[in-house]
Amino acid sequence: MSQAAARVIARQVLSKPDSVLGLPTGETPIGMYETLVHMYDQGLIDFSRIVTFNLDEYYTLSPDHPNRYHRYMYEKLFMHVNVPEGNIHIPDGGVQDGEAECRRYDEELVRYGRINLQVLGIGTNGHIGFNEPGTAWGLTTHVSDLSPETREWEARSFAEDEPVPRRAITMGIKTIMNAEQIMLLASGEEKAKAVAAALFGPITPQVPASVLQLHPQLTVALDKAAEEKFP
Ligand code: GLP
Repeated sequence: MSQAAARVIARQVLSKPDSVLGLPTGETPIGMYETLVHMYDQGLIDFSRIVTFNLDEYYTLSPDHPNRYHRYMYEKLFMHVNVPEGNIHIPDGGVQDGEAECRRYDEELVRYGRINLQVLGIGTNGHIGFNEPGTAWGLTTHVSDLSPETREWEARSFAEDEPVPRRAITMGIKTIMNAEQIMLLASGEEKAKAVAAALFGPITPQVPASVLQLHPQLTVALDKAAEEKFP
């Protein structure tokens, strides 16, 4: 899955060196980022004109918190490749005014037109970004309330006595669906139900990822376990 995903990104970067990439965090894309760093080290790809927009960020977490997606992105990718600092966009989850940060993020995105390739993971409840079940599909970047199921899943990466954030800043479904191409990644049996519902179930806001059935350029990269529940 990681290699297939990295190849899709590499092809995008090669064919359009100034591509705008939408990037996810989480455990799922770690291998993809490792593969991209490896390809970069071998001189196969050049990120010097690439622009990136991250999907989401916890709101709020202190700037030095190890779980910030900002930190993840630098550790997994940006510290190792040549994306120019000024081309990197990640929602700022440390601001006082979350709504203003969402507007700023949308405006920044509009300056670049549209995302050429948006990469997504999926939550066990079918969320994409932090668009939880029931979220309106017309939203752009917004502050979302995390569901109990999502907070339980996220708790894996927080210390036992530490509260998981209740909110996040996330690109909306409208932002995601506006991308020219989308690639959905999923690995592990815990995701199998959500992946099957997203790809083969009814198209409904109750399964946010099911909206992807409406996208004309969708690539799905899965491991075996994640496709276990396919009809
Ligand atoms: C979080 C992120 C999503 C991500 C999901 C799955 O909810 N906001 O963007 O896709 O987790 O994460 P993981 O890959 O760790 O299972």
